[in-house]
This record gives sequence, C-alpha cells and structure tokens, in this order.
Amino acid sequence: MVPPVVLDMFETMVAVDPTASLAYLYSRVVAAEYRRFLGTFFTPREYAESMVEHYANQYDDPKVVVDVGAGVGSFSELAARYWKTAEVFSVDVNPFTLGLQAVAMSQRCRLKTRLVLGDYRDWLKQNCKAGPTLYLGNPPYTRWQLIAKQNRQQLVADALGLVGPLANLSTLFFGMSLVKLTQDDGLVMILPSNWMHARYARELRAWLRKQVNRKIVLRRADSWRFDDAMVDAVSVEVGPQCRGLQQMAISSWKMDRCFAVQRQDGEKAIRFAESGDSPDTSSRSEVLLEQYARIVRGTATGANRFFIRAPEQWRDFEIDEAYRTPLARRLRAIEGREESVPDIAELLCLEMYKQGENKNVDLLIAMGERDGVDRGYLCSSRPKWYDLSNEFRRPDVIISTFARERFHVMVNVDKLAISNNLFGLYWKEGICESLKESILCWLRSCDGQDALRRCSSEEGCGLLRLSPRRVGLIRINRAVCCGTAGSSSKECS
Ligand SMILES: C[S@@+](CC[C@H](N)C(=O)[O-])C[C@H]1O[C@@H](n2cnc3c(N)ncnc32)[C@H](O)[C@@H]1O
Repeated sequence: MVPPVVLDMFETMVAVDPTASLAYLYSRVVAAEYRRFLGTFFTPREYAESMVEHYANQYDDPKVVVDVGAGVGSFSELAARYWKTAEVFSVDVNPFTLGLQAVAMSQRCRLKTRLVLGDYRDWLKQNCKAGPTLYLGNPPYTRWQLIAKQNRQQLVADALGLVGPLANLSTLFFGMSLVKLTQDDGLVMILPSNWMHARYARELRAWLRKQVNRKIVLRRADSWRFDDAMVDAVSVEVGPQCRGLQQMAISSWKMDRCFAVQRQDGEKAIRFAESGDSPDTSSRSEVLLEQYARIVRGTATGANRFFIRAPEQWRDFEIDEAYRTPLARRLRAIEGREESVPDIAELLCLEMYKQGENKNVDLLIAMGERDGVDRGYLCSSRPKWYDLSNEFRRPDVIISTFARERFHVMVNVDKLAISNNLFGLYWKEGICESLKESILCWLRSCDGQDALRRCSSEEGCGLLRLSPRRVGLIRINRAVCCGTAGSSSKECS
C-alpha cells in the first residue's frame, strides 16, 4: 500500500504542474542509460515555451500541430494553449511517457491533444494533412549506432536524400519532416547542433538555403545537458512560405546577437554567420582562432567518480603508479601568480591491460562491475569498458569551461590529461612559438577575455559557459598574430 503521505505529495505535485512534474519523476525513476535508446530527455519548460511563443508571435495559427516524440507532452501542452483551435497530435513510441501525458492532460480539462502511440516515421507516411501544419518538438537524439540496423536504410530513404547514413535520429526526423512541408507549413524543433556541420546533413543545409521564401532562424542553446552528456543544441524555426526574399539567420538564444546567413556563400554560409564573420572581413583584418588551433572538450569518462581520484585514494586501493596518469580537474587563480594552477588528480590508465595482470586492478574492475559502472552509456560503448587510452589526450593549453569573470588559459607544461570540465587547445602544425605566445597573451588580455565572454552562454547566477566550437570561432585581430598589437592585448587583472 502506498503510504498516505507519499500519495499526498504525489497529488500535490501533479496538481501544480502535471507535465513538468511527471517528466521529472520519469527521469528520476528511469536511469539515463535506459533512456538513451529512445532519446528520452525532456525539454526544460522555458526553452519549449520560448520556441512556441516565438513562432506564435510571427505566424498565423496552424490548423494541425505534430509533436514529434511528444514524451510527457511539454510541447503538446503548450501547442494546445497557444493554438486553441489546432488539432494537436502527440506522437511517441513509448507507452509509458505517453501514458503520463494522458495523466497530465487529464488535469488540464480545457486542453485537448490526440495521443498517437507509434513510430513517427510510420505516422508521417500514413497521415493525410488537414491544413497548415506545424512540426514541433524535440525529436529523439538517438545516435546512429543505437538505431536498429534493420531500420537505418529506410530512415535514410524517407529523408529523400537530405540526410545520409551516420546521422542521429533527430536529424533524420528533421529531414523527413522538412520534405513534407507544403507552402503553409512550418517547423520548430530543438536538435543537437551536429547537423549544422556534419557531412551527413550537407544536402539538408543546401535545401534550407534554397528556401528563400521561408524565414529561417537558428537559435543556439549552447551546451545543453542531456543528463550525463553535454551537447550543443539549436532550435530551428522554419516559417511558412511568404512573399519576397526572407532572411536566414543564426542567433543567440535570447536573440540579442543575430547574424544573417548569406545563402549565396554556399556550404560556408552557416560557418561564416556563426563567427559573426564574412569572407571579406576575415581575410582583411581578422582570423579565426580555429585557423591556428583545435579546441576540444576533455575526456568524458562516463564515470568520473570511478576513473578519477586523488593520488592518496589510488594509494588506498594500492593501484600502482604505472596505471595512473596525472589529470587536471579544474583551473584556479592564485593570488600573486600570473599563471592559473590546476587542481590535480589522477586518471586510471589501463592501456593494453589484461585481466589477471595485477590483482588490485582486477579487484577495482570487479568493484566497478559490481556497481554497474560498466553498464553506463559511454563505458558500455568501449571495447573494454575500463580502457580510456583511445580517448584521453594531453592538450597544449588548458582552458576553463565556466567562469564568472575570467576564463583561465594555462599552458600545459606538465602534459596533464584533462577532465571534461575543461577544454584542451591543440596547436595546428607549423605554428611558431612566438605566434602561440601572442595568441595566449591576447586570450588572457581584456580583449581576449571579452571575446571569450561574448561567445559564452549564461547559465544563470552570472555563471558563463563556453562551448569548444564557439571558442574556435573567436575572431582575433591580425595585428595580434603579427605581433603588432598595442595596449589592447595587455593582461586583464
Ligand atoms: C528528446 S525526447 C522529447 C520528449 C518531449 N517532447 C520533450 O521535449 O520533453 C524524444 C522523445 O521521442 C520519442 N521517440 C523515440 N523514438 C521515436 C520514434 N521512432 N517515433 C516517435 N517517437 C519516438 C521518445 O520516446 C521520447 O519521448
């Protein structure tokens, strides 16, 4: 029997905000590793509402709204609230989340949605449109490797050439929805941003550029957290066809920074717009940081608590030094010192390890398996779940991911590995030492720190977060790279 106090709490929770509460409950009860296959990660209300509101403020009400992978129904509920006369279809393959949506909607008797239990691809094929339609939602971010082999070919075929093999399911659903758009239809979806650059979505990007009579806005929601993984996400809004040429643009989430995508720039159009750049200005006075260096997030172990420990903890387990490598967990400033300093821990390093080789390491592995570490998403995708040797790198420079004021930039003299709280900068070949020095000096200067802050996104409470791609797109004045920069590149205290 459920204790009355639990029942009471449940009823209160559901009465206040049923959709958000039930989504929260589901994500607490079902572990992230079991939600990966269907990509069941829920959209925070403020993001979903901002997308729906932005579309509703610009276009006529749709007659039909399709919530693609509706889950517990945050988009469906918003659609029913914003477009009172529209028929809202909530399509999902998961009977549990759809059932929770039925419970949530039963609390909102004035809002109606039609629950469709089934595969979106099948639904899209069978359903006959009944008027201007909006394709809406957060389609499942299921990686290609996790899509059942027997379905892959058909999914690619349904996107009619816009999306190629290796794409994740959200890009495939995005592509197959785009090809369904008729004149009065629109689309608003939040997606991992890989499609903006990946080869598999080349034709999709070309298709979007050709839609000159549709307004297209790509709003970046950088470094979106899919429970245990960080992904850069973007909301794609494609309006119905209108008279005359319409703008295509990339903007920050709050739309306070917006850059036109010059469709005539072809494949490079998105990249130029992302850097707030154009071919002209970049060749004249500025260069992108990515021309000199690659910026990559540190190692995602999949279980930091297992793989990363302080040296004394490893000693407690009697793990020999040969199986550990120093790693920077985070960077700190120390008063009176110019360079940032790392908080050092050690990463378990079992390259070529064969079980039976060392009894303490074997015990540690067995302990990890007892605790289910091997079944986590990242661990279970490795040939040997405990062997990170193909994943960890020792960057040339370490950059902090978060900051309130100042982002640390530290030369990695000790060749430390880094955790995924940090970014690694790797110089491209042929960059001379004095140029490296000038770039780092500029990154630490007031101008460089301003540039880092401008390309960050705000996490709330004044905390700023960088994304590796945006850092790569920072523009540096050529004078910095030629060593002729003046006072603007002075260290910022
Ligand atoms: C990223 S979640 C989004 C949930 C909800 N719309 C939200 O934004 O909070 C993706 C949803 O797609 C559903 N899904 C996965 N594969 C699907 C398929 N083939 N057809 C329809 N829905 C699917 C999952 O069950 C999951 O609920």
